[in-house]
Amino acid sequence: MIILGIESSCDETAAALVKDGREVLSSVVASQVAVHHPYGGVVPELASRKHMEAIVTVVARAMAQAGRERHQIDGIAATRGPGLIGSLLVGFSFAKAYAFALQVPWVGVSHLEGHLNSVFLEPDPPAFPFIALLVSGGHTSLYHVRDHTRADLLGQTRDDAAGEAFDKVAKMLGLGYPGGAVVSALAEAGDPEKILFPRAFLDRDHFDFSFSGLKTAVNRYIQTHPEAARGQAADIAAGFQAAVVDVLVQKLIAAAEATGCGRVALVGGVAANHRLREEMRIAARERGLQAHLPSVAYCGDNAAMIAAAGYHHLKQGRADDMGQDVYSREPKRSV
Ligand code: KG4
Ligand code: ZN
Repeated sequence: MIILGIESSCDETAAALVKDGREVLSSVVASQVAVHHPYGGVVPELASRKHMEAIVTVVARAMAQAGRERHQIDGIAATRGPGLIGSLLVGFSFAKAYAFALQVPWVGVSHLEGHLNSVFLEPDPPAFPFIALLVSGGHTSLYHVRDHTRADLLGQTRDDAAGEAFDKVAKMLGLGYPGGAVVSALAEAGDPEKILFPRAFLDRDHFDFSFSGLKTAVNRYIQTHPEAARGQAADIAAGFQAAVVDVLVQKLIAAAEATGCGRVALVGGVAANHRLREEMRIAARERGLQAHLPSVAYCGDNAAMIAAAGYHHLKQGRADDMGQDVYSREPKRSV
């Protein structure tokens, strides 16, 4: 079964063809970074307009890259939310119209469920159940994943998401937007132990996160050491990154131990972080847990993960009707 996936929840217009929820035939991601860069963040109205300009071309490129014709598409899956409403509406409306034209079933998919399914695009996916940490620009959430379309939320951030903290620290250091990749590249040159930043919620018996105190601590350090901060940007980035990574890895491992689950996964844009990947692999190995990570190409927003998740809904006969709407926030505690 070949599914066309469409993703347009934020500032990436993406389309992909995926066979049987596993085999990526093509994956095209058109980034709007250059459009939003001068503003230091995503401008929602610009994002939706750019999605509208790009969507037809991006889908055509995904078809061409896969070497498939329209009549070979068995179903369509599009991100329903969470995300920017104007952006979501472009991909969602396109998916409905295309499904109507091709006379194939279609389904709206949670972006978070998409990220959780990204590990199934790899050759050696986890068996169910597994513990997944979803770390992105909007979310930092731990899930007990039951199957492709069911996951129980164990804990989540009470304030900033991990990716959001990376983006804000990048701004404080004058590194521009988006921040995750630049902060982690800068951190490579720094000493993670030179400046020790706080690790929140490490000692408590729950799976929630908090990154606003860390963000404030970094800001305070920069304000109180203006001279040092200029010469020490790499050490600040390394110290900040180490604090984020420590908390994320420890909570993920703690959740696996508390649930007695032997498999852990790390997904979402921040899962592209080199140090986080390494530390997670090491910690999992030390405890005899199997670690599952999507390739870096499937960590950030992409449509292959949406097609993978949508496949399981459509296979179970859960196609949507044309009356469906998008949503900006996840409506329930599980995905
Ligand atoms: O999943 P994603 O592409 O979009 C959302 O669903 O939010 O995640 C984007 C987030 C941004 O905050 C970005 O700064 C962060 O992922 N990110 C990183 C890295 N690459 C992207 N954070 C840390 N290290 C990275 N290498
Ligand atoms: Zn995402």
